[in-house]
Amino acid sequence: MSSEKTENSEYTGTMLDRVLVLEMVRVTEAAAVAASAWIGRGDEKAADAAAVEAMRMAFNDLYMDGTVVIGEGERDEAPMLYIGEKVGGAPNKGPKIDIALDPLEGTTITAKAGPNSLAVLAAAEEGCLLNAPDVYMDKIAVGPGYAPDIVNLDKSVAENVSAVASEKGVKPSDIIVCVLDRPRHDKIIAELRDIGCGIQLIPDGDVAGVIATTNPETTIDIYMGSGGAPEGVLAAAALRCVGGQFKGRLLFRNDDERARARKWGIEDLDKIYDLSELAKGDCIFAATGVTDGSLLGGVKRLRGGVMTTDSVVMRSSSGTVRWVKGEHKIK
Ligand code: FBP
Repeated sequence: MSSEKTENSEYTGTMLDRVLVLEMVRVTEAAAVAASAWIGRGDEKAADAAAVEAMRMAFNDLYMDGTVVIGEGERDEAPMLYIGEKVGGAPNKGPKIDIALDPLEGTTITAKAGPNSLAVLAAAEEGCLLNAPDVYMDKIAVGPGYAPDIVNLDKSVAENVSAVASEKGVKPSDIIVCVLDRPRHDKIIAELRDIGCGIQLIPDGDVAGVIATTNPETTIDIYMGSGGAPEGVLAAAALRCVGGQFKGRLLFRNDDERARARKWGIEDLDKIYDLSELAKGDCIFAATGVTDGSLLGGVKRLRGGVMTTDSVVMRSSSGTVRWVKGEHKIK
């Protein structure tokens, strides 16, 4: 795979250059390290702001002409990393890359020093990531190895559980389901209790919750329930790289949210999206742990002025998954 860049000419290499794939880890590392100073400090906003600023600065070291398609909010609500913001150090010259990001996925978790907060991003060629508005998304996910469409959002909870159980060769009551701990999920939880499933209730952080289905060590078979739509696109990008299935349907609470979706070009508001419609083509997913979690360890400040980070970067076209341990000198 070749790439070429000159000071004054347009980029002529492959869009998602190999070098760029690895560089994405620097970006999530920078955000995670900055947020880690706020772990357990009870200040969600400060933790988020630190991550946002660090991520934005790190992007500018990359040779790319990036556009944030999923970010901190719309231009008038977010000072940095807003939707439509240009990022990267080579505007109009470097490869045109669309970026979905969440500099701190799990702001409350970070403030309370809970598990599974991440700095996370997905990158793809221009036009390949769904421009998801900041609304809820109904989600269901399973790990790799199941028949296509084994789970879907138009099936009942019991139908989804029993389909997965029967392919896995276990009883429905042996299935473990991860659900965000929210009152809106009371009905799903009651149905799962009726079946006798194990339920892992998470306080926040459904990107990690969805990805947990792909890791047998977590023992989670299915992720179910609604969470942020932007987080849905990020999780879908990860599953495109490691395998697994994900279905998502946008949920609208009012006409304002419907109008926002239309503004981003979404016409069929009831559509159930598959993985490859949320993150198409070649895409990259990168994440660094802020606090310890099922996917990654958190940032650790050790004696002797050293900090360690734990990251993963994956690419859908090659299916390569790289686990990156970083050791950084505290400046
Ligand atoms: P933040 O990092 O923006 O706080 O998001 C955390 C999160 O738990 C997401 O993982 C999830 O998709 C969303 O919030 C769920 O939203 P809500 O807290 O409104 O149920």
